[in-house]
Amino acid sequence: MIPGHRIAPLAAASLLISTSIVGAQEAPAGAADAAAVARGQYLVTIAGCNDCHTPMVMGPNGPDRDMTRMLSGHPESLEMPPVPTLPPGPWGAVAAATFTAWAGPWGVSFTANITPDPETGLGKWTFQNFKDTIRTGRRMGRGREILPPMPIPMYKNFTDEDLAAIFAYLQSIPAVKNRVPEPWPPAEAPAN
Ligand code: HEC
Repeated sequence: MIPGHRIAPLAAASLLISTSIVGAQEAPAGAADAAAVARGQYLVTIAGCNDCHTPMVMGPNGPDRDMTRMLSGHPESLEMPPVPTLPPGPWGAVAAATFTAWAGPWGVSFTANITPDPETGLGKWTFQNFKDTIRTGRRMGRGREILPPMPIPMYKNFTDEDLAAIFAYLQSIPAVKNRVPEPWPPAEAPAN
Protein backbone atom coordinates (compact mmCIF):
# COMPACT_ATOMS: atom_id res chain seq x y z
CA MET A 1 0.00 0.00 0.00
CA ILE A 2 1.37 3.41 -0.90
CA PRO A 3 0.96 6.06 1.78
CA GLY A 4 -0.34 9.41 0.61
CA HIS A 5 -3.22 11.74 1.12
CA ARG A 6 -4.75 10.87 -2.27
CA ILE A 7 -5.11 7.26 -1.17
CA ALA A 8 -6.45 7.83 2.33
CA PRO A 9 -9.94 9.09 1.34
CA LEU A 10 -10.26 6.21 -1.11
CA ALA A 11 -9.26 3.66 1.50
CA ALA A 12 -11.67 5.25 3.97
CA ALA A 13 -14.42 5.18 1.36
CA SER A 14 -13.87 1.54 0.50
CA LEU A 15 -13.82 0.69 4.21
CA LEU A 16 -17.15 2.46 4.50
CA ILE A 17 -18.53 0.53 1.54
CA SER A 18 -17.22 -2.78 2.77
CA THR A 19 -18.67 -2.34 6.26
CA SER A 20 -21.94 -0.63 5.41
CA ILE A 21 -22.91 -2.18 2.08
CA VAL A 22 -20.99 -5.44 1.78
CA GLY A 23 -21.38 -6.08 5.48
CA ALA A 24 -18.53 -7.90 7.18
CA GLN A 25 -16.81 -8.78 3.90
CA GLU A 26 -13.40 -7.23 3.44
CA ALA A 27 -11.48 -6.47 0.26
CA PRO A 28 -9.57 -9.62 -0.75
CA ALA A 29 -5.97 -9.69 0.43
CA GLY A 30 -3.65 -8.47 -2.29
CA ALA A 31 -6.32 -6.43 -4.07
CA ALA A 32 -4.23 -3.27 -3.69
CA ASP A 33 -1.20 -5.14 -5.12
CA ALA A 34 -3.26 -6.45 -8.03
CA ALA A 35 -4.47 -2.92 -8.78
CA ALA A 36 -0.89 -1.61 -8.70
CA VAL A 37 0.29 -4.39 -11.04
CA ALA A 38 -2.54 -3.64 -13.48
CA ARG A 39 -1.76 0.07 -13.43
CA GLY A 40 1.94 -0.74 -13.85
CA GLN A 41 1.21 -2.87 -16.89
CA TYR A 42 -0.75 0.00 -18.41
CA LEU A 43 2.05 2.49 -17.72
CA VAL A 44 4.76 0.17 -19.07
CA THR A 45 2.70 -0.34 -22.22
CA ILE A 46 2.02 3.31 -23.00
CA ALA A 47 5.45 4.53 -21.87
CA GLY A 48 6.94 2.27 -24.55
CA CYS A 49 9.27 0.19 -22.35
CA ASN A 50 8.79 -2.75 -24.73
CA ASP A 51 9.98 -0.65 -27.66
CA CYS A 52 13.53 -0.84 -26.38
CA HIS A 53 13.61 -3.57 -23.73
CA THR A 54 11.88 -6.36 -25.73
CA PRO A 55 13.89 -7.60 -28.73
CA MET A 56 12.39 -6.98 -32.14
CA VAL A 57 12.37 -9.99 -34.48
CA MET A 58 11.11 -10.59 -38.01
CA GLY A 59 7.72 -12.33 -37.84
CA PRO A 60 5.13 -13.41 -40.42
CA ASN A 61 3.68 -9.89 -40.42
CA GLY A 62 7.00 -8.04 -40.51
CA PRO A 63 9.12 -6.86 -37.58
CA ASP A 64 7.47 -7.45 -34.22
CA ARG A 65 8.45 -7.63 -30.54
CA ASP A 66 9.40 -11.11 -29.30
CA MET A 67 7.07 -11.26 -26.29
CA THR A 68 8.50 -14.64 -25.23
CA ARG A 69 11.50 -12.56 -24.17
CA MET A 70 9.44 -9.65 -22.88
CA LEU A 71 11.51 -6.85 -21.32
CA SER A 72 14.62 -9.05 -21.10
CA GLY A 73 16.84 -6.55 -22.92
CA HIS A 74 19.56 -7.05 -25.51
CA PRO A 75 19.86 -10.82 -26.20
CA GLU A 76 23.18 -12.13 -24.86
CA SER A 77 23.45 -14.45 -27.88
CA LEU A 78 23.48 -11.49 -30.26
CA GLU A 79 27.08 -10.33 -30.37
CA MET A 80 27.30 -7.00 -32.10
CA PRO A 81 30.09 -6.27 -34.63
CA PRO A 82 32.01 -2.98 -34.39
CA VAL A 83 29.87 0.09 -35.05
CA PRO A 84 29.95 1.21 -38.69
CA THR A 85 31.42 4.65 -39.28
CA LEU A 86 28.64 7.14 -39.78
CA PRO A 87 28.99 9.65 -42.58
CA PRO A 88 29.25 13.27 -41.44
CA GLY A 89 25.94 15.02 -41.35
CA PRO A 90 22.60 14.81 -39.71
CA TRP A 91 22.67 11.01 -39.06
CA GLY A 92 23.64 10.76 -35.38
CA ALA A 93 22.90 7.27 -34.08
CA VAL A 94 22.36 3.69 -35.25
CA ALA A 95 20.29 0.91 -33.71
CA ALA A 96 20.46 -2.87 -34.03
CA ALA A 97 17.58 -4.53 -35.88
CA THR A 98 16.42 -5.79 -32.46
CA PHE A 99 16.21 -2.18 -31.22
CA THR A 100 18.19 -3.35 -28.17
CA ALA A 101 21.66 -1.99 -29.04
CA TRP A 102 22.20 1.68 -29.71
CA ALA A 103 25.31 3.48 -30.95
CA GLY A 104 25.69 7.24 -30.67
CA PRO A 105 27.99 9.88 -29.23
CA TRP A 106 27.63 8.11 -25.83
CA GLY A 107 29.22 4.92 -27.20
CA VAL A 108 27.08 1.79 -27.44
CA SER A 109 24.33 1.05 -24.94
CA PHE A 110 22.44 -2.21 -24.62
CA THR A 111 18.92 -2.21 -23.22
CA ALA A 112 18.78 -3.76 -19.75
CA ASN A 113 17.05 -6.91 -18.59
CA ILE A 114 14.25 -5.51 -16.42
CA THR A 115 12.55 -8.88 -15.73
CA PRO A 116 12.76 -10.20 -12.14
CA ASP A 117 15.61 -12.64 -12.84
CA PRO A 118 17.78 -12.36 -9.70
CA GLU A 119 21.15 -12.75 -11.47
CA THR A 120 20.66 -10.93 -14.77
CA GLY A 121 17.60 -8.74 -14.18
CA LEU A 122 16.03 -6.66 -11.40
CA GLY A 123 15.15 -9.62 -9.12
CA LYS A 124 17.31 -8.35 -6.28
CA TRP A 125 16.30 -4.70 -6.63
CA THR A 126 14.13 -3.02 -4.02
CA PHE A 127 11.61 -0.38 -4.98
CA GLN A 128 14.03 2.20 -3.54
CA ASN A 129 16.78 0.97 -5.93
CA PHE A 130 14.40 1.35 -8.87
CA LYS A 131 13.11 4.75 -7.82
CA ASP A 132 16.63 6.09 -7.18
CA THR A 133 17.73 4.87 -10.63
CA ILE A 134 14.89 6.61 -12.47
CA ARG A 135 15.08 9.80 -10.41
CA THR A 136 18.86 10.31 -10.53
CA GLY A 137 19.79 8.62 -13.83
CA ARG A 138 22.42 6.55 -12.01
CA ARG A 139 22.18 2.82 -11.26
CA MET A 140 20.50 2.57 -7.84
CA GLY A 141 21.15 6.30 -7.38
CA ARG A 142 24.90 5.86 -6.87
CA GLY A 143 26.32 3.64 -9.66
CA ARG A 144 27.24 4.50 -13.21
CA GLU A 145 25.20 6.87 -15.32
CA ILE A 146 22.29 5.39 -17.29
CA LEU A 147 23.01 6.10 -20.95
CA PRO A 148 20.71 7.17 -23.80
CA PRO A 149 18.34 6.38 -25.27
CA MET A 150 16.78 5.40 -21.89
CA PRO A 151 14.40 8.35 -21.46
CA ILE A 152 15.47 9.28 -17.92
CA PRO A 153 14.81 13.03 -18.50
CA MET A 154 11.13 12.21 -19.07
CA TYR A 155 10.70 9.24 -16.76
CA LYS A 156 12.13 11.03 -13.75
CA ASN A 157 8.85 12.97 -13.75
CA PHE A 158 6.77 9.86 -12.98
CA THR A 159 5.05 10.22 -9.60
CA ASP A 160 6.13 7.93 -6.75
CA GLU A 161 2.82 6.16 -7.10
CA ASP A 162 3.39 5.49 -10.82
CA LEU A 163 6.93 4.27 -10.20
CA ALA A 164 5.65 1.92 -7.47
CA ALA A 165 3.04 0.54 -9.89
CA ILE A 166 5.63 0.08 -12.67
CA PHE A 167 7.99 -1.69 -10.29
CA ALA A 168 5.19 -3.93 -8.95
CA TYR A 169 4.35 -4.95 -12.52
CA LEU A 170 7.99 -5.51 -13.53
CA GLN A 171 8.47 -7.79 -10.52
CA SER A 172 5.34 -9.78 -11.49
CA ILE A 173 6.32 -10.71 -15.08
CA PRO A 174 8.15 -13.93 -16.07
CA ALA A 175 11.85 -13.83 -15.18
CA VAL A 176 14.11 -14.28 -18.20
CA LYS A 177 17.76 -15.22 -17.71
CA ASN A 178 19.68 -13.02 -20.12
CA ARG A 179 22.94 -11.29 -19.30
CA VAL A 180 23.12 -7.99 -21.13
CA PRO A 181 26.62 -6.73 -22.07
CA GLU A 182 28.16 -3.68 -20.43
CA PRO A 183 28.11 -0.52 -22.57
CA TRP A 184 31.00 0.23 -24.89
CA PRO A 185 32.78 3.57 -24.45
CA PRO A 186 32.62 6.12 -27.28
CA ALA A 187 35.04 5.28 -30.08
CA GLU A 188 38.31 7.05 -29.52
CA ALA A 189 39.19 9.72 -32.01
CA PRO A 190 41.64 8.35 -34.56
CA ALA A 191 45.25 9.31 -33.74
CA ASN A 192 46.79 11.86 -36.09
C1 HEC B 1 14.25 4.51 -26.15
C2 HEC B 1 14.68 3.27 -25.54
C3 HEC B 1 14.24 2.96 -24.12
C4 HEC B 1 12.97 3.04 -23.59
C5 HEC B 1 11.70 3.50 -24.27
C6 HEC B 1 13.07 2.54 -22.23
N1 HEC B 1 14.36 2.19 -21.95
FE1 HEC B 1 15.04 1.55 -20.14
N2 HEC B 1 16.95 1.49 -20.89
C7 HEC B 1 17.30 1.73 -22.21
C8 HEC B 1 18.73 1.51 -22.36
C9 HEC B 1 19.53 1.66 -23.64
C10 HEC B 1 19.21 1.14 -21.10
C11 HEC B 1 20.66 0.79 -20.72
C12 HEC B 1 21.42 2.07 -20.46
C13 HEC B 1 22.80 1.82 -19.90
O1 HEC B 1 23.30 0.69 -19.94
O2 HEC B 1 23.39 2.79 -19.41
C14 HEC B 1 18.07 1.15 -20.19
C15 HEC B 1 18.15 0.90 -18.84
C16 HEC B 1 17.07 0.80 -17.97
C17 HEC B 1 17.15 0.51 -16.57
C18 HEC B 1 18.43 0.30 -15.77
C19 HEC B 1 18.61 -1.15 -15.47
C20 HEC B 1 19.97 -1.50 -14.95
O3 HEC B 1 20.16 -2.67 -14.60
O4 HEC B 1 20.87 -0.65 -14.96
C21 HEC B 1 15.88 0.45 -16.09
C22 HEC B 1 15.45 0.14 -14.66
C23 HEC B 1 15.00 0.72 -17.18
N3 HEC B 1 15.74 0.95 -18.33
C24 HEC B 1 13.62 0.71 -17.11
C25 HEC B 1 12.79 1.15 -18.14
C26 HEC B 1 11.35 1.28 -18.00
C27 HEC B 1 10.56 0.89 -16.76
C28 HEC B 1 10.89 1.78 -19.19
C29 HEC B 1 9.49 2.21 -19.53
C30 HEC B 1 8.80 3.05 -18.55
C31 HEC B 1 12.05 1.94 -20.06
N4 HEC B 1 13.17 1.53 -19.40
C32 HEC B 1 11.99 2.43 -21.37
C33 HEC B 1 16.46 2.13 -23.22
C34 HEC B 1 15.10 2.40 -23.09
